[in-house]
Amino acid sequence: MGCAQSQMAGADSGMKVVNVDKVKSGSKMLPRGAGSARYKLRRCNCCSFSYFALCKTCPRCNDAAPVVRKPIVGGNWKCNPSKVSELKELVANIDACDTSGCDVYVCPSTLHIGIVYKSFKNGAKVAPQNCNYKGCGAYTGEMSADQMVDMGLEWCLIGHSERRGEFGLPTPPESNSLLAMKCKYLLEKGMKVIFAIGEPLPVREKGLKAVMETLIPQLLEIKGMLDPARVVLAYEPVWSIGTGVTASPAQAQETHRAIRQWIAKEVSPSVAAEIRIQYGGSANAKNAPDLSKCPDVDGFLVGGASLKPEIAEIVAAVAKEKCWRDLGNADLFPAAVYEKSGLRKTGAVTWVKA
Ligand code: PGA
Repeated sequence: MGCAQSQMAGADSGMKVVNVDKVKSGSKMLPRGAGSARYKLRRCNCCSFSYFALCKTCPRCNDAAPVVRKPIVGGNWKCNPSKVSELKELVANIDACDTSGCDVYVCPSTLHIGIVYKSFKNGAKVAPQNCNYKGCGAYTGEMSADQMVDMGLEWCLIGHSERRGEFGLPTPPESNSLLAMKCKYLLEKGMKVIFAIGEPLPVREKGLKAVMETLIPQLLEIKGMLDPARVVLAYEPVWSIGTGVTASPAQAQETHRAIRQWIAKEVSPSVAAEIRIQYGGSANAKNAPDLSKCPDVDGFLVGGASLKPEIAEIVAAVAKEKCWRDLGNADLFPAAVYEKSGLRKTGAVTWVKA
């Protein structure tokens, strides 16, 4: 039964339903545990009614509630470690991440994927750092989605700035068109994609408008592929990658918000609301708590710090802030919680004074 229905059921039966509108955070009327995610209240943007955050629509005016996005953190090992013997420690760092409130993936170097891909015990996924756009065959040095699928891999990272020409080497950069082909190919093969975008420092120095003018062409060719269940965007300002200079929470938030607004306009408001956008660029255990407070930052793509035990702290920080829980078919408001507060449960989200 939906939230709206269950509240109506209480009202129809003539019982005195305690109106959640009158329940303020911290008030004695809130069931114990009200501070946790599942009991959070939200105020409707449309009619100002307060209702449980888990409801998908406002019980009073049916306005859609803001979407709760599960956070996601990736560890990009890049071309590390230098020795196979060091992999054990790196795997242990990822295995130490609590994945109950956050999706976790790791991008080992191509050479090491085959060694570690069955090692993770906490549900962390392995995502190669690249993919070709054709399949198996005469493609020396490439990896195909077919091979990934056969190995049980579900995710692939493409579009990292180090593949878009920021190597510092005279290698041809991967173009937006090539990356769109790769994205299409991966999705057709049933894979999920982490699609990285970002702007260089001279662009950032010109302000958000210039940043978006750089990011939009990176997004344009994949805008029809932005399925929130299968594509995660990773916004990584090039100037903050590996430099120790992190975007401030305000910079990250304004950019993530602008990306979401662009998607709302160009694709749809629901895709914009649901798609996850990670921040990447010198993310670490110290700055993750503040960056996680940004409403449009849904996690991190972590380079250097993913080679250290602190990756678990980064995952914990974003999970704590976003409070995502897999509730499945769980009883959202168990009777015992109400009883402790002197209330008697009468429906999924209704109660009377006991
Ligand atoms: P960094 O790298 O965390 O070392 O800055 C991030 C990335 O390149 O994905």
